[in-house]
Amino acid sequence: MSQTKRQRVLITGASSGIGLQLVHDYAAAGWEVLASGRNADKLDDSCGAVAAQLLVADSSDRDAVLSTFADIGELDLAILNAGTCEYIDDARHFDSALFKRVIDTNLNGTAYCLEALLPQLPRGSRIALMSSTSTLLPFSRAEAYGASKAAMDYLANSLRIDLRRHGIAVSLIRPCFVDTPLTARNTFAMPGIISVARASAIIRRQLARGRDEINFTRPFVAFLRLVAWLPSALNNRLQGGKQRL
Ligand SMILES: NC(=O)c1ccc[n+]([C@@H]2O[C@H](COP(=O)([O-])OP(=O)(O)OC[C@H]3O[C@@H](n4cnc5c(N)ncnc54)[C@H](OP(=O)(O)O)[C@@H]3O)[C@@H](O)[C@H]2O)c1
Repeated sequence: MSQTKRQRVLITGASSGIGLQLVHDYAAAGWEVLASGRNADKLDDSCGAVAAQLLVADSSDRDAVLSTFADIGELDLAILNAGTCEYIDDARHFDSALFKRVIDTNLNGTAYCLEALLPQLPRGSRIALMSSTSTLLPFSRAEAYGASKAAMDYLANSLRIDLRRHGIAVSLIRPCFVDTPLTARNTFAMPGIISVARASAIIRRQLARGRDEINFTRPFVAFLRLVAWLPSALNNRLQGGKQRL
């Protein structure tokens, strides 16, 4: 009797929010799920019951990422989702330590994962990088987060060109506001915020369709593109008040 091979997916940032929902949804759909997070207990509590493997590594620690992801075997899909957000509250007294923390986790962490995983990915596989719709429009206080995600956009789009001849596809995911512990810390209004279940459904559907770019939701993306199209002086004024010279 022939048995079809289960598809294998690695998801980073699996212990919370979007990553956690993806772990449960892919497992429910019959995938073999490798769940990665930085806190072993939290990862076990959240994913232990459904994940085939738990991989513990802080994404900003290159040695830990390289050793944890060495020899994990062939994957059909890797979703590099781990990320953090910290805001620059006082731009005049720029906090470069905060900036470095965010870049290290979001951007350099992704680079470490790529270094570990790409040699192991077979032809026909796909790697998905988690960016944000915040890259469509500069937001107040988002200098660090936005820079990390804008760099992610370039990274994904450039990588897609170079991995094409190796048969590895690259998807760039740009979610709108999603209701997770990350956004629960925000004290401002989050228009169009959606549930993690909806975010996961969109991401999984679009990845299955082989989309290079997954931007959602459509109305939110259209709104951001419209505002981005306005003269920058108007956007600066809308977000930052009157300029004092
Ligand atoms: N929620 C949104 O509205 C939204 C919108 C656009 C993009 N995103 C992106 O989506 C991704 C997931 O965000 P989320 O909203 O689901 O946030 P979340 O609930 O805070 O989950 C973030 C995940 O990343 C992990 N993580 C954070 N720093 C890490 C590090 N140094 N090493 C390893 N893992 C680390 C967290 O681990 P712990 O559980 O140990 O903290 C957690 O598993 C992020 O890349 C975020 O930028 C989110």
